[in-house]
Amino acid sequence: MIKKRRKALVIAAVAASAFGLAITVPATIVRAGAGSVHPGPLSRADAFARAQALTALGRKMFFDPALSASGRQACSSCHDPRHAFGPASAAPVEMGGPDLDQPGVRAVPSLRYLQAAPAFTEHFYDSDDEGDESVDNGPTGGLTWDGRADHGKEQAKIPLLSPFEMANKDAGAVATALQKSAYADDFKSAFGDDVFDHPGDAFDAAAEALGTFEQSAADFYPYSSRYDAFLAGKATLTAQELHGRALFEDEKKGNCASCHLSEPANDGEPPQFTDFGLIAIAVPRNGAIPANADPTYLDLGLCGPLRTDFKSRTDYCGLFKTPTLRNVALRKSFFHNGKFHTLRDAVAFYASRDTDPGHWYPRNADGTIRKYDDLPKAYWPNLNQDPPFDGKKAGDRPALSDTEIDDIVAFLGTLTDVDQQAVPAN
Ligand code: HEC
Ligand code: HEC
Repeated sequence: MIKKRRKALVIAAVAASAFGLAITVPATIVRAGAGSVHPGPLSRADAFARAQALTALGRKMFFDPALSASGRQACSSCHDPRHAFGPASAAPVEMGGPDLDQPGVRAVPSLRYLQAAPAFTEHFYDSDDEGDESVDNGPTGGLTWDGRADHGKEQAKIPLLSPFEMANKDAGAVATALQKSAYADDFKSAFGDDVFDHPGDAFDAAAEALGTFEQSAADFYPYSSRYDAFLAGKATLTAQELHGRALFEDEKKGNCASCHLSEPANDGEPPQFTDFGLIAIAVPRNGAIPANADPTYLDLGLCGPLRTDFKSRTDYCGLFKTPTLRNVALRKSFFHNGKFHTLRDAVAFYASRDTDPGHWYPRNADGTIRKYDDLPKAYWPNLNQDPPFDGKKAGDRPALSDTEIDDIVAFLGTLTDVDQQAVPAN
């Protein structure tokens, strides 16, 4: 049973966050001896220098298409820095593989603001000063839409090897590409002269560098949106944006902030616009995803099939991770399956999923509505029923009117980071 989520969430210290501590190094690649730059515990200054070196290395790797089997796909091909490290395209899923003809199965998330994601846990309790520490908030945290990777460095291995992403045959193929790269010497000075003699170690090191780059604040968590400036008393919002914010936070209206946290934490940490909870909201099936041509293929999130450790947990079927809404106005596809293509539709779905299901879900031959068409009925009890859904039925008045939806969309437009604002909004 998913409990009502708390509004305030203390952001885990960096050391416990999903990307881990920048300066940690997997034990397997700490080898004393010639060429190794980290023979033991590092001084603060050395640790800082090391983090900087790995960030620079990770940045080069992130933009390097030579690290893919096709030779044409880098991390940045899908995670475009001009789109808040989300996709530039409007396609619900991206192509990958050795010939770039293998479609993915999920929408590409933005990589911004993941530094605050706690490691995945089935039972998340707020800290005592931020909420009710006796309330179990249920499955929370981790990376990817189903939380199956806990650290940036662990996550980076998924796209490097996935047959529908960068599609390297194995760790050795990645190590070979790194050895041929223009930054091979940087790689050796960071991880040891003999790092390429041990492909497994080189692969771990590559993931470590990428994970460290993903913690670069200027790139990944600048907190530079107009809303951040507003919270700091340095900018104003329009009347419409302010109204949208009120609706977003009102527990009887949008109630959006119960999951997409919008207020700074007690310690002053800016809001992340997610509590990282895994929740089922029954986004309609997306026929534009090739895998969905097979009616027996179901992406059920936390219970699989991409995630395999909770296969038998039927109470976890349909749950996906709550994404941040920072920079959401830059997106051209929304939700885990990229079903919707305008932010307005994504917001309107919350208002009328249950009051006007015929607008969102397809019809059977006999005209009846195939409600929640991407989630078998056995899993419907997993669906979130908090406001704005609130147990409403077809024909009831939606929690938000058309103009109220517009106001929330306007408010969400204030969450775009300043370095992204030159990019034409969706
Ligand atoms: C072909 C497109 C593609 C490429 C290339 C790609 N990714 Fe991704 N990335 C995705 C998709 C799709 C997801 C969501 C996967 C899921 O939920 O199962 C994702 C998820 C992630 C996440 C987790 C985000 C979150 O919200 O939890 C991180 C971190 C990430 N990718 C980093 C990388 C890195 C580093 C690389 C390069 C080594 C890379 N990606 C290459 C498509 C791609
Ligand atoms: C009970 C928790 C919860 C509440 C309340 C909630 N959301 Fe969400 N939100 C989620 C989850 C979970 C997802 C991802 C679901 C999926 O992809 O299947 C999501 C996804 C989104 C997305 C898509 C973002 C992207 O990157 O694709 C938008 C936009 C969004 N929510 C806006 C809102 C607004 C606006 C409200 C209030 C009207 C709201 N949400 C209320 C949990 C919640």
